[in-house]
Amino acid sequence: MVVRKAVLPVAGWGTRFLPATKAMPKEMFPIIDKPVIQFIVEECLSANIENVIFVTGRHKRPIEHHFDINTDLEKHLEQCGKTDLLRNIMEISRLINPIYIRQKEQLGLGHAVLVAEPVVGYEPFVVALGDIIVRDNKNILERMMEVYNRFGKSVIAVFEVDRKDVSKYGIIYGRHIEKDIYIIDDLIEKPKPKEAPSNLAIVGRYLFTPRIFEKLKVTPPGKGGEIQLTDAIKLLIEDEAVYAIKIDAKVYDTGTPLGYIQTVLDFALHRDDLREDLILYLKQLLSSSIPQIDTV
Ligand code: UTP
Repeated sequence: MVVRKAVLPVAGWGTRFLPATKAMPKEMFPIIDKPVIQFIVEECLSANIENVIFVTGRHKRPIEHHFDINTDLEKHLEQCGKTDLLRNIMEISRLINPIYIRQKEQLGLGHAVLVAEPVVGYEPFVVALGDIIVRDNKNILERMMEVYNRFGKSVIAVFEVDRKDVSKYGIIYGRHIEKDIYIIDDLIEKPKPKEAPSNLAIVGRYLFTPRIFEKLKVTPPGKGGEIQLTDAIKLLIEDEAVYAIKIDAKVYDTGTPLGYIQTVLDFALHRDDLREDLILYLKQLLSSSIPQIDTV
């Protein structure tokens, strides 16, 4: 069965970024001039998934506006002759078929995915977290689809992290069956380095068979009273194989202040128009005395 739909959960509170996220979704934070969520939508489009289901909340309206057609702005850019910008903003709103559904209460990532069930229906679908950007030469969703097409089962993208960092991620334990492919035996959410069964961390890209919905419906609230997606995957593993594909990509977690700053810096260093001046600035900053806390 072809994968035609992606679910992007974007309803979370973003508490790690308060007060900035009181009225502005963290998924709309700019990575220089492009909001985080646009990177994820572009990733879906380049894997030929144009039906993008956003699971949103009451303070997430800017996301809807962003993917809408803004005829006034288009007219303005046309009149100014800013054709590159015009093409850019026209493309993203015309290629995507956005569907918005509300998660009325923020009951966790697992719950957010379950909210999308009436729109997804009984077919395989992708889940891409709204605050994780993946930079890879190959489209990782396409690679996940290849694995799904071979085995007909759910696939989770993982990447290698330093042992000391495992406690920031969901970690899998799996049997290696061929190059970069595993069958998952277990998953542990944010283990201590000593207790981690591997250093393979979940990226934030999943491809599920619709059976995940059955499991989400019977998943009891876990950590923080939230319905955890990892708990539902554990239940799924009891019934059918779940595969992992190891990717060799750069994964950016823009949902934490440090991760966000690192993302902006990294993307700026990859841009012709910013790279040189930024390197100069960073060199100056590091060779002079580093500002003290509270002096900025
Ligand atoms: P996070 O746990 O990173 O987001 O969830 P959060 O809850 O907004 O962050 P903090 O901890 O309060 O700072 C990963 C993704 O899942 C979405 C978030 O919007 C984010 O994109 N999410 C999370 C939901 O859609 N609903 C939820 O109930 C929880």
